[in-house]
Amino acid sequence: MKTLLTGGAGYIGTHTAIELLQHGHDVVIFDNFSNSHLEAVRRVETITGQHVPTIQGDVRDQYALTDALTQHGIDSVVHFAGKKAVGESVSQPIDYFDNNVNGTLVLLRAMQACKVFKLVFSSSATVYGTPSYLPLDERHPTSSTNPYGRSKLMVEEILADVHHSSSNWALTVLRYFNPIGAHPSGCIGEDPADIPNNLLPYIAQVAVGRREHIQVLGNDYDTPDGTGVRDYLHVVDLARGHVKALERLQHLTGPELQTINLGTGQGHSVLEVIRAFEQACGKSLPYIMAPRRPGDIASCYANPARAQELLGWTAEYDLATMCADAWRWQSANPKGYRG
Ligand code: NAD
Ligand code: UD1
Repeated sequence: MKTLLTGGAGYIGTHTAIELLQHGHDVVIFDNFSNSHLEAVRRVETITGQHVPTIQGDVRDQYALTDALTQHGIDSVVHFAGKKAVGESVSQPIDYFDNNVNGTLVLLRAMQACKVFKLVFSSSATVYGTPSYLPLDERHPTSSTNPYGRSKLMVEEILADVHHSSSNWALTVLRYFNPIGAHPSGCIGEDPADIPNNLLPYIAQVAVGRREHIQVLGNDYDTPDGTGVRDYLHVVDLARGHVKALERLQHLTGPELQTINLGTGQGHSVLEVIRAFEQACGKSLPYIMAPRRPGDIASCYANPARAQELLGWTAEYDLATMCADAWRWQSANPKGYRG
């Protein structure tokens, strides 16, 4: 199997590249490096001992994609490329729809032209909106409150129509819960370009001395300790979910569209995550209580039964391991790849 990883130089893409290579598959990375560094790919090569062909290109450029698909004899694609900051999507909706929705349309057109019909798409648990029940299974109604979430929902709808339109396509939509952690080597990990929006990278930057204190965004939620509960998932587990999804697509003979949650099924509160990170880094971390972040929900965690049933996948790593691995990466690379 030879897979094109759009956005493959990013956080989830690099971890997935390692797992695919270590499972004997070939990968080609296609990335415009708008939110990543070539150094991350070099480190994937060091970890795996394999050369990773890498193309600097934009998924909105059909010619560059067609070239990549044909020149490298690609038979499947994992589409990670896109923009992912919720707040930024509110102030820059045109950029978000252009990158995430238009980028996917151009990719689908290029794939169709090259007769590559197997695709795994990076969606998000954000498409469930405010949960009406927990744990969230794939039948839960979808909704969105911001352009980022809407871009994911739009792509999911486009993929459903593409699937109905012809018998060629085998499509898997993976709805990720909250990926955190880093490769156990400590050589690759999450490296936000600006002030982190997400909890884990923020905690890690406080631990390493780049930020003063953590803000706990809301302590009056209807949760056991009042702080938000999420389904944190080790990025290596998430990466292995992609290997399983691709291997399943490889063996399929007919058309298909599957939508699959990737989560642990376990919720952890913000305070629990801070405590776990304190254990991992061996110091106490200053935090203050702050108001809720607009758009945040109290609790969100997956029913991962379908992933087990269809992919034979379950998450292996616990919160302590996620924090230990995140700390190994952050402490060895205090300024990320720029250092
Ligand atoms: P990331 O920003 O680290 O990786 C995305 C990669 O895509 C980057 O390397 C970036 O340079 C590249 N890219 C962006 N626009 C591009 C374009 N137009 N053409 C080519 N390359 C482009 O993000 P990530 O955390 O690895 O996320 C990967 C995917 O998973 C995204 O689609 C994201 O929305 C989705 N997702 C992420 C999370 C999360 O918490 N990290 C949760 C749910 C879903
Ligand atoms: C956020 C996005 C979501 C996206 C997901 C993964 C929002 C509103 N939602 O989800 O669309 O799919 O990231 O990229 O941005 N928290 C703090 N302090 C912080 C940061 C976060 O207390 O500095 C809390 C939050 O209130 C939440 C939890 O930590 O309860 C996790 O937050 P975060 O890591 O941003 O993930 P999500 O909110 O689940």
